[in-house]
Amino acid sequence: MKEYYPNYFVSWLAKGTDLQESDLTNLEVLEPIFELNRQWVQQKEIENYTLQPDFVRAYTLFYMSMNMPKLWFLMDRGAIIPVGNEEIHFHDYGSGPGTFVWALIFYLKSKDKLKQLRSVCITEQSPVFIDQAKKLHKGLSQFLDLKHIEFTYERRDWRDSPPKQGQIAFFGNVTNELGPELATFKVENYFDQTSEIVFLEPGTSKWFHRFLPIRNQLLQKGWQIQFPCPQSQECPMLNSDNWCHMSINRFQHKLMQQMAGITGRRNHKHYFSAFHFSKNVKQSQSNWRMLSNIRRIKRSRVAWLCNGEKLKETVLNRRARSECNEAFETASIGDLLHVERSRHQPGLPKVGRLYSGDQVTNLSNGVDD
Ligand SMILES: C[S@@+](CC[C@H](N)C(=O)[O-])C[C@H]1O[C@@H](n2cnc3c(N)ncnc32)[C@H](O)[C@@H]1O
Repeated sequence: MKEYYPNYFVSWLAKGTDLQESDLTNLEVLEPIFELNRQWVQQKEIENYTLQPDFVRAYTLFYMSMNMPKLWFLMDRGAIIPVGNEEIHFHDYGSGPGTFVWALIFYLKSKDKLKQLRSVCITEQSPVFIDQAKKLHKGLSQFLDLKHIEFTYERRDWRDSPPKQGQIAFFGNVTNELGPELATFKVENYFDQTSEIVFLEPGTSKWFHRFLPIRNQLLQKGWQIQFPCPQSQECPMLNSDNWCHMSINRFQHKLMQQMAGITGRRNHKHYFSAFHFSKNVKQSQSNWRMLSNIRRIKRSRVAWLCNGEKLKETVLNRRARSECNEAFETASIGDLLHVERSRHQPGLPKVGRLYSGDQVTNLSNGVDD
């Protein structure tokens, strides 16, 4: 996976958290988030962590840095950013330190599209997180020209007023905080005015299954899904234990490797689930989202594919391997594949097999994981 951390990332982070660069990997500084995790695991009552400055700083160093690539993963696969030169207006709900605003800015900068970003709104209930976001904003202005972007900071509950027209409404690890209430959240007229909504949340079965009723409500109101579902049908995982989630390598940046090293977190995979709903999407019945990486079984290749209606473990055996279908072998989790079936072959949803004449095209950028 390509990384978009700028080369000044570590010095920006240190300035924005009032630390020396050498302190970013200090166990004492990071400890509050690990204490919080322990409390979560033990299901203890947790004091409002978002009002504790030590926690907010540790979150910013550890989770903010690791969450950023999840947005890059989506954007690399064609979600969120308009293909043309239209203006971008981004509204981050439950922004914490502004994780996804900065991630968006780094991405746009690297694609030479930062000029398209015209406004950013940060809605966050914690004043401590808002202060943290403002510090990072100020620090970033020393490295990048952000004068053309209108920034607004709103301290409020995100449910108090709906997203406005023309904005990308972004929810990152925030609807998860509604807990069981999420399953009964009524979309009603809440999203009527906007045309792009993104949810990027922990890759857990619990969040996913609580969220499915929101997915259904949005589809009933005429929304289409841009990511991950190639068709806006009833989710094939609705009544199953399975859930749709992706993974990134969380140790892309040396700083994350160091933080993980001192805290004993060795698993390089970081899971998340995401949905991008749009009013402006064209879907194809021949597209499939890859929901796992390729497994090699003897000389066959196997991966989970989903077309938004059917989930199918799909096999390409060695006799069927051909130039037409080699895009399947090199695709990775999250990629969108277009599969043109060779004539007279039964449908992919039925048999879960690719044949030598099947033409497979990877519609995502096909970045390496
Ligand atoms: C887990 S953090 C996620 C921060 C950031 N979006 C990220 O993914 O790195 C959740 C954030 O949502 C905020 N939050 C939770 N419920 C909220 C609500 N109802 N209205 C506004 N902010 C909320 C919390 O204060 C916290 O900063």
